[in-house]
Amino acid sequence: MKRKEFIQTTAAGALAFLLPFPSSASGAKKKLRIAQVGLGSMGLNDLKDIASHPAVEVVALCDVDMNKINAVKATYANAKIFTDYREMFKNIANEIDAVVVSTPDHAHAPVSLLAMEMNKNVYCQKPLTHYISEARKMEAVAAQKKLVTQMGIQVHSFYDYKLATILIQKGIIGKVKKVIAWSPKVWGYDGPEPEGSDSVPEGVDWNLWLGTAKQRPYKEGFYLNGNWRKCIDYGCGTLGDMGVHIFDTPYNALQLGVPLTVKNECREPNSFGHAEKNHVTYVFPGTKYTAKTLEWVWYDGQGAPELQEELKLPNDEKLPDQGAMFIGENGQRLLLPHFMELPRLIVDNAYQLIDIKKFDAKSEAGKPTVSYDVEGQKHYHQFVDTCLGKAKCSAPFSYAAKLTEVILLGVIAARFPNQILNWDGANARFKEDEANKYLIGEYRSF
Ligand SMILES: NC(=O)c1ccc[n+]([C@@H]2O[C@H](COP(=O)([O-])OP(=O)(O)OC[C@H]3O[C@@H](n4cnc5c(N)ncnc54)[C@H](O)[C@@H]3O)[C@@H](O)[C@H]2O)c1
Repeated sequence: MKRKEFIQTTAAGALAFLLPFPSSASGAKKKLRIAQVGLGSMGLNDLKDIASHPAVEVVALCDVDMNKINAVKATYANAKIFTDYREMFKNIANEIDAVVVSTPDHAHAPVSLLAMEMNKNVYCQKPLTHYISEARKMEAVAAQKKLVTQMGIQVHSFYDYKLATILIQKGIIGKVKKVIAWSPKVWGYDGPEPEGSDSVPEGVDWNLWLGTAKQRPYKEGFYLNGNWRKCIDYGCGTLGDMGVHIFDTPYNALQLGVPLTVKNECREPNSFGHAEKNHVTYVFPGTKYTAKTLEWVWYDGQGAPELQEELKLPNDEKLPDQGAMFIGENGQRLLLPHFMELPRLIVDNAYQLIDIKKFDAKSEAGKPTVSYDVEGQKHYHQFVDTCLGKAKCSAPFSYAAKLTEVILLGVIAARFPNQILNWDGANARFKEDEANKYLIGEYRSF
């Protein structure tokens, strides 16, 4: 199965996908008015992809860093500009239909919840929240207000991942007993907590950047431009960064809920940085696609994953840098590299051809991947089309909150290295009471 063969079948589909949104019955085109909050590296991507939908009008740009706003404001000349999202909602709430939240993790819930309180539809980056209590609240508010929501796990709408979901659900490797997933990224820090303060870069409002999160003096190189991922107070480490993407397909395919237990084998915690290397083991109750229970194992950090028989590839091939391996009760395996690569079936340590038509007769996985640019827009366009009543989001907060909860349980488990924590999902409590204080954050007034 070569990607080239698929690409030939796809051009017509891709074009159809990009046709303009049809006019309404009155002949006037209905526009969805979008506010973009956060214009960092992913925010720019989010903005470009959502704005590529012909029915979108960008009406507001908000970032606590004026440099980021200045870099794009000419492209969206009609958009109003804000550095404080609270001011944006106070002043022009009635001009906004939907909000895209692309801030660091600690601000996802404060911005999204305010938006939802004002009845705005929300596309929020992953992980949905920084705390489990916030994820549960986001899900509840979205449901209560019947809002359109989507989490920014764009690969959820990619062909390769949808295909893997179908293959697993159609039983290509039988019932699944274990999933191993990995990323060698290192969003952790074990150095000393920074002392003193540096002058805040011109154009950045540090108080607004901190928002509801813990007050810390500004230090060069520690927080801005994605470095916040390493800090316990603002990010969720590598598990929160890559785990959400890589765990998404197994989570969705196997229809998992919340785990029974979680254990993180990592270094002793410090009060500032996430662990640089995590080996997390979850046990889930079984579903119709799994064995009696499902073991899900995550490795991150330099050198991840640990070498083991279940990850050995045919012909001693090198394991993809990041990905997930599904392991069936019968020993058959499905490898899903991250990302934009087809899933691979492994039987008796040899690759086996997959007859895709047999598993996906109705082409439910859609058209095979052409390029990131085409594939990447799907998830955003699905959100826009859902807001316009023409589609259904595939990663709404009802799904995203649970996936995020699972991820954050592993992050909390890093506070108790090598200890099995028992999770009572129905009551949102650990049996080990000392862990419960990490479910919720203290909001700073700012
Ligand atoms: N889906 C993906 O593939 C993907 C990829 C990268 C990042 N992300 C997610 O996107 C988010 C942003 O990550 P990034 O790499 O762009 O980080 P970044 O640090 O590059 O950008 C964050 C931006 O948000 C701004 N900001 C901070 N607080 C704000 C606030 N209260 N209001 C408005 N703007 C604020 C910052 O000034 C900065 O411009 C994160 O949640 C991350 O997990 C997703």
